[in-house]
Amino acid sequence: MVDAEPFIGEKIEEIGAAIGDENAVIALSGGVDSSTAAALAYEAVGDQLTPVYVDTGLMRKGETESIRETFSYMESLRIVDARDRFLDALSGITDPEEKRHAIGEGFIREFETVARDVDADYLVQGTIYPDRIESEGTIKSHHNVGGLPDVVDFEGIVEPMRDLYKDEVREVARALDLEEVVSERMPFPGPGLAIRVLGEVTEEKLEVAREANHVVEDELEEYEPWQALAAVLGKATGVKGDNRVHGWVVSVRSVESRDGMTARAQELDWETLQRIQSRITGENENVARVVYDVTHKPPATIEYE
Ligand code: XMP
Repeated sequence: MVDAEPFIGEKIEEIGAAIGDENAVIALSGGVDSSTAAALAYEAVGDQLTPVYVDTGLMRKGETESIRETFSYMESLRIVDARDRFLDALSGITDPEEKRHAIGEGFIREFETVARDVDADYLVQGTIYPDRIESEGTIKSHHNVGGLPDVVDFEGIVEPMRDLYKDEVREVARALDLEEVVSERMPFPGPGLAIRVLGEVTEEKLEVAREANHVVEDELEEYEPWQALAAVLGKATGVKGDNRVHGWVVSVRSVESRDGMTARAQELDWETLQRIQSRITGENENVARVVYDVTHKPPATIEYE
């Protein structure tokens, strides 16, 4: 386990030395990884750092507002509304890896635009050890590592947490006094809801996924899962009122894990599952079914794509 205090001191020095008098941008997603990396880098270089939050339209419910609040102390924070650009870039793409690449590329381009604007040479990232391992193997290319386009304009990429596991990042976040909503937050993948809707990303599927993920996080908080999520699988027949509907099938997943490399599906009680089902089908008339995923990792992965 990392010794947080000395780690913080060491990293602040390292980041300061790497960036020097130049300017940097950091990709801020609101998750614990990028938030901790941002807080470290801000400590190191202050206003030379521009934290960039890209609203891709693939984020959790209320994410943008929460970012605005949590990081309001960073005056250089930029919030970029790129929702239309991401939807356009994803249009027609059904392959999971292609989605990741399109999103990774989109992210980098948005950063580059801000970076040029603020004359930044460095990109800080919240990459952690399991991201690198999974990308080095052929399991999935994480958009923030393997999905980087070949041509990146930055002079250097700084990854202060590249050797940490998730629970170590949380230790560091607590030691940095980040708000609990950040330090204890469930992991959320960089490509966001795009990999929680199977096949092509559409606004309709995203909306179903956003609401369903909100319900799941809300209902399962007390179970303290390592990660809980909802994914839109496809369409199936259901009955609403007197009518047959062809509605979305939403899969609910809740897992225990230490680092995301392996995971166990959580055992939930029937009432909780029924409450989740009832909220998801009740809040969205286009959802016909809710199923619960009992598969461990392996053989499944945590995310659906
Ligand atoms: P899987 O689905 O591979 O997920 O079992 C393991 C952990 O990684 C997260 N994940 C991602 N995070 N970019 C990310 O930043 C990605 O492309 C990505 N894919 C999966 C996933 O949410 C879980 O915590």
